[in-house]
Amino acid sequence: MPASGYELQDYKAIMYRTHTCGALRAEHIGQEVTICGWVDRIRNQGGLVFVNLRDRYGITQTAFAPEAGEDLLELARGLKMEYVVQVTGKVCARPVGQANPDMATGEIEVRPTQMTLLNKCNQPPVYPSIPELPSEDVRLQYRYLDLRRTAMQDALMLRHRMIKTLRDYTDAHGFIEVETPMLGRSTPEGARDYLVPSRVHPGKYYALPQSPQLYKQLLMIAGYDRYVQLARCFRDEDLRADRQPEFTQLDIEMSFVEMEDILTFMDGMIADLAKKILGLDLQLPLSRMDYDEAMERYGSDKPDLRFGMEIIDLTEFAKTVDFQVFRGPAEAGNRVRAIVVPQCADKYSRKAIDELTTYVKEDFKAKGLVWFKVENGDIASPTAKKFTDEEHKKILEITGAKDGDMILVVADTFDITCAALDGLRRRLAKELKLYDPKSMSFSWIVSFPMFEWNEEDNKWDAKHHPFTMPQPAELDLLDTAPEKVHAVAYDLVINGFEAGGGTVRIHDTNLQAKIFKLLNIDDQTAHERFGFLLDALKFGAPPHAGIALGVDRLVMLFGGYDNIRDVIAFPKTARATDLMTGAPGVVDDKQLDELSIQNTRKEEN
Ligand code: AMO
Repeated sequence: MPASGYELQDYKAIMYRTHTCGALRAEHIGQEVTICGWVDRIRNQGGLVFVNLRDRYGITQTAFAPEAGEDLLELARGLKMEYVVQVTGKVCARPVGQANPDMATGEIEVRPTQMTLLNKCNQPPVYPSIPELPSEDVRLQYRYLDLRRTAMQDALMLRHRMIKTLRDYTDAHGFIEVETPMLGRSTPEGARDYLVPSRVHPGKYYALPQSPQLYKQLLMIAGYDRYVQLARCFRDEDLRADRQPEFTQLDIEMSFVEMEDILTFMDGMIADLAKKILGLDLQLPLSRMDYDEAMERYGSDKPDLRFGMEIIDLTEFAKTVDFQVFRGPAEAGNRVRAIVVPQCADKYSRKAIDELTTYVKEDFKAKGLVWFKVENGDIASPTAKKFTDEEHKKILEITGAKDGDMILVVADTFDITCAALDGLRRRLAKELKLYDPKSMSFSWIVSFPMFEWNEEDNKWDAKHHPFTMPQPAELDLLDTAPEKVHAVAYDLVINGFEAGGGTVRIHDTNLQAKIFKLLNIDDQTAHERFGFLLDALKFGAPPHAGIALGVDRLVMLFGGYDNIRDVIAFPKTARATDLMTGAPGVVDDKQLDELSIQNTRKEEN
């Protein structure tokens, strides 16, 4: 049932209202009703005052006419935006020609016989009914007013429906929801922890969970077989449009399964969600691509597959030319790679291309950007003269670029070419509207590298987390070439965002010990941090695997929003502050004393 159709008539005990502001239709004409809501709009037309009342369910027009008496009219004239009122009156058809087909209640109006002012409202810094919005800071500071806006209510309603659909699906498939602690030990998702000092144990700290990873593995060892949790996670990391310091996961773990079981189950769940929420019929199985292939073709492990512009490799060709910008990196074992931007040569002036160059240099540390426009079957740009005619032909041949296209080339380390070309691909596809923003693309990226090199600490880090199973066929490489080992890991990618990720877990203590060793986690540290899990693995751990979906990201993507703040009731700013409550705030010295923490206040309010 649509939210606006929710009827309150069953609740006779509620005296405030008989109907919501979204409920009244032509069939109610002639009835006496009482509605409550916020003043959304006032039109004072001399003898007549129209007041639109709004609640979560919709908007109803009330029409105060002279017949209602001068007192009531006077009261209506005194109303201000966002006052809270209760109106009793008769449901009437709107006069001929005045029905509003854009409003669900547009056929009727309520002619009041009585009105009670339930509460006044100061001049609001955010007007829920006015499309022009104040700055986001003001919206966040007065979030309760911002949340009155229909757009925000729609977002939270969408979130509710998506969560409900996911919960129903997991319930129907035998999952049980188990809550896991917020106050625990540090979990190894790779971000900084939020710490909570212990009063009872001076100098000791709980860590808020970065995810319920270890607990869900313990639940598998405990025999729960199919676990799900709508889990709050906390990560102290740099924030972006798709990252919040606290966020929600749909966290899943299953026993006696392999990757194939997880992906098949998740395919079904995502297809169910897409059907129920968007009316989309997804073709199953969802497409899959190896990590290595994704990096070669798109420069990203979360490629946006709604458009083409795949990366083209020019490294071998670059080794044969005199142009040092190409040849140097190619011969040094780096890469020369390009994208062909279709039919845009006339849209990008020198100045616009300079901006792209600055973008790849500043955002991705690329050394530069070489560009060619394709005109009359040849390449043109200041750099074009550095190449022979034969080489011009070769560039066109390898890239397949046509008249009107633009070729953008980055010559650098593999990682920098990936990052820069991925950035350019996304930016240009958006600028040139190369895809329908309403379209959706779902795919799995699988077989990630097991480890990534940590330059700073000169050691291997786990790409996912240290409990991830290496590809069984590559176990021998752990000793000889760890960089070549892939993990049984999978990410769900939607429209170029990582919407979820998971792995098959190690359930063998010896293998786990070996991975810790490779990660330079010594026995004592491993024992201190994850001893309980290592012990538990010795008590009959079943093979198990799992995944977590980022719920905020999922809602953002399904709703077509640009930022997860738009689908979170009370989000933090990019600097991790809550502008409404003022968190994080200073605390009393007494509180700090109790926690045995010395006050080294650096930032005053
Ligand atoms: P991972 O770290 O990949 O995996 O997280 C799973 C999903 O959570 C979402 N996500 C976030 N959303 C908003 N803000 C953030 N700061 C943020 N960080 C992550 C993403 C991501 O895909 N324990 C593993 C899962 C597993 O192996 O089962 C884990 O947490 O959508």
